[in-house]
Amino acid sequence: VIDIRKLYAETGHFTYDPGFTSTASCESTITYIDGDEGVLLYRGYSIDDLADKSDFPEVCYLLLNGELPTQAQKEKFLKNITYHTMVHEQLSMFFRGFRRDAHPMAVICGVVGALSAFYHDSTDISDPVQRVIASHRLIAKMPTIIAMAYKYSIGQPFMYPRNDLDYCENFLYMTFGVPCEPYKVSPTLASALDKIFILHADHEQNASTSTVRLAGSSGANPFACIAAGIACLWGPAHGGANEAALNMLQQIGTPDRIPEYIAKAKDKNDPFRLMGFGHRVYKNYDPRAKVMQETARQVLDELGVHNDPLFQVAMELEKIALSDPYFIEKKLYPNVDFYSGIILRAMGFPTTMFTPLFALARTVGWIAQWSEMIADPSQKIGRPRQLYTGSPRRAFVPVAERA
Ligand code: ACO
Repeated sequence: VIDIRKLYAETGHFTYDPGFTSTASCESTITYIDGDEGVLLYRGYSIDDLADKSDFPEVCYLLLNGELPTQAQKEKFLKNITYHTMVHEQLSMFFRGFRRDAHPMAVICGVVGALSAFYHDSTDISDPVQRVIASHRLIAKMPTIIAMAYKYSIGQPFMYPRNDLDYCENFLYMTFGVPCEPYKVSPTLASALDKIFILHADHEQNASTSTVRLAGSSGANPFACIAAGIACLWGPAHGGANEAALNMLQQIGTPDRIPEYIAKAKDKNDPFRLMGFGHRVYKNYDPRAKVMQETARQVLDELGVHNDPLFQVAMELEKIALSDPYFIEKKLYPNVDFYSGIILRAMGFPTTMFTPLFALARTVGWIAQWSEMIADPSQKIGRPRQLYTGSPRRAFVPVAERA
């Protein structure tokens, strides 16, 4: 049994911090959050400015390289990304091995992990050039893999990427296009998706990013690390919340049922929580949720969906919750997942695709954080300790003598 006092006396420190609520696991220059003020910066730039004035590929460049690209750098980066959009043809067999009704997160977790069996050169993490190629491969191939998972689930043929389209347009084309008909990508929807991707691109040491870093700290290859991040993201307390939030809004159905759900969320004997509400770090309005609410309004207007019942329920739920002493006292505000599902549903994505879309956007954050860690000469394998609360040492009892 570890004697904590002895350990402390020997090492000078030992912290017990379940959920890592007050423990930094690394130094990072990528993303800054001020949870009390509701501020989020990528490399010093505010999320509102980036969502309003930039685009997702540029934000990818920023997260990976620390600076916004010049025009020439941006063109070169886009060329690198489009170069890698196809996946090895044999990977299509992986999809065919799954049941059609498999959750796409299960499929992409397996397929992304399998990339290391195809792109061996990118598994040499000691080579900085290969690390950059691995980053580009992941950012480029995630849309293709996720669109393939969707196409497989609905029994339609896979669509090869089109490198004449921009990042989001190509993703929409691979997802909703079919070979027998021309597909016209809506610029409004592509631009809304681009914004959603920017909002989800990184969020410092959340559970999935910490998982990527922990997996990577042992020297595991980048594809395996991102697959680990995808597995962690799937949980309903993390990336799975966007799917859960929309399901909840659908269950509520009409504004008159909101008080019933608010009461359930407050009832300590009921495990129900308002999905898309609350955050470990934000104790104020999540700045991403604000942009998301506005984007939802724009997309619904553009699609001619006026008075969308789910949007009405969401707005009313937010209003009621934010004036309720329980939510005020606990500083529970809508998070990024509260409104994103409404937009994605209006675009035609089924709810099971919501978390894969989050994974697509977060891949750049994961890989930027992984690259930062690997390049750090002081990097060590992540190896938390524990507080052992089990039995003290005892004598072994042969099976015949056990009561
Ligand atoms: N509805 C009702 N009560 C809540 C909610 C909620 N959504 N979230 C937290 N609370 C309450 C808890 O019951 C707890 O109450 P208590 O102090 O009386 O026990 C208190 O607020 C603090 O909650 P914790 O779970 O301790 O806070 P933590 O920081 O560990 O959890 C989390 C944060 C997981 C996001 C939580 O707020 C939650 O479960 N929210 C719903 C799921 C969700 O929307 N997740 C997405 C997060 S954002 C993202 O991953 C992109």
